[in-house]
Amino acid sequence: MNKIKNSKILITGGAGFIGSNLVDSLYKENEIVVIDDLSMGKIENLPESENINFYKHSITDSEFMKDLLIKWKFDYVFLLAAVASVADSVDNPLQTHYINQDANLCILETIRLNNLPIKKLLFSSSAAVYGNSEELPKKEDMAVKPLTPYAIDKYATERFVIDYGNLYNIPTVCTRFFNVYGPKQNPSSPYSGVLSIISDCAINNKPFTIFGDGMQTRDFVYVKDVISALLMLMVSEDALHDVFNVASGRSETLKSVVLHLKKISNSDFDILYKDGRQGDIRNSAANINKLTHLRFKPEYDIRSGLQEYFSYEVNR
Ligand code: NAD
Ligand code: UD1
Repeated sequence: MNKIKNSKILITGGAGFIGSNLVDSLYKENEIVVIDDLSMGKIENLPESENINFYKHSITDSEFMKDLLIKWKFDYVFLLAAVASVADSVDNPLQTHYINQDANLCILETIRLNNLPIKKLLFSSSAAVYGNSEELPKKEDMAVKPLTPYAIDKYATERFVIDYGNLYNIPTVCTRFFNVYGPKQNPSSPYSGVLSIISDCAINNKPFTIFGDGMQTRDFVYVKDVISALLMLMVSEDALHDVFNVASGRSETLKSVVLHLKKISNSDFDILYKDGRQGDIRNSAANINKLTHLRFKPEYDIRSGLQEYFSYEVNR
């Protein structure tokens, strides 16, 4: 249940997939500011409402972000803006570093230097920080092994967020999302989330290419469960200066998910195979005990999540 009401909330990356689903669940009872450069996000993802203040701007403009933070004195800050594609970070490590790490550090520094009275700041990190370590399922206290600039930036920023919290008494928390899917995920890039690509192939009857043998596993978590987890972590006093896996707790092979979506969509798109992607993680599985101890329970399994997602896609 959403307990955040009558608050001023900043959502960076709020026109993107997870961010816009978060806006949907908060805007009726709060005042929202969204900063998004629309590199992946879309303005159509946001509902029209006088409670939503949208700025098409990059979070890397530190002066702009500083003025905004000081002017608004937000209650809650969700840091979701990022170049979310791991492959893009491999192609452009420095550019993505400015966005995925430096811009977030500047936000923390503005909060610190100006003693801004935030109730909590949440940073969205990723399961990518665990890398290819053999041990499964991944637990928050396991050794991390980031393999890409994206994962390095996510892990380092987690540490900044947690340690700014401890050192300067700023309430903060971090999440490690596993593979999130659902409405409003943008399938336009070859590096978009795989379920948005498969769903696009099903609707438009285009062939779908599996990289590798299709037996790689992922913990696919439905976006509505992710939003519930974010809202819970933002208000829970037990979620402070810490990091939490956000996942369903169950993993599937890519192949089984493709076949399942094919069945739900009643579509006969072709499945092609190509070599596996460089740096691709073979198996990913989450231990979500830390999250469930805070009385969070995912409501969707892969079947109910895919069903609802696909119904949304065909009816929109
Ligand atoms: P997304 O690409 O839909 O959302 C990110 C948003 O950030 C986009 O709207 C994009 O336009 C915006 N953005 C990018 N660069 C920006 C900049 N310089 N200034 C302002 N806005 C900028 O991706 P998402 O799936 O909604 O991811 C949200 C967050 O969750 C990201 O931080 C991502 O790394 C993290 N995450 C996502 C997943 C997943 O499975 N979707 C998994 C792990 C972590
Ligand atoms: C995803 C997220 C990343 C996050 C990580 C955490 C996206 C775009 N990426 O990375 O931000 O940090 O989860 O777990 O949301 N595949 C195909 N064909 C395609 C596309 C992909 O076979 O057309 C395969 C990939 O090779 C991979 C799997 O599907 O094996 C999942 O790929 P993808 O959705 O890009 O996610 P991750 O790389 O796991």
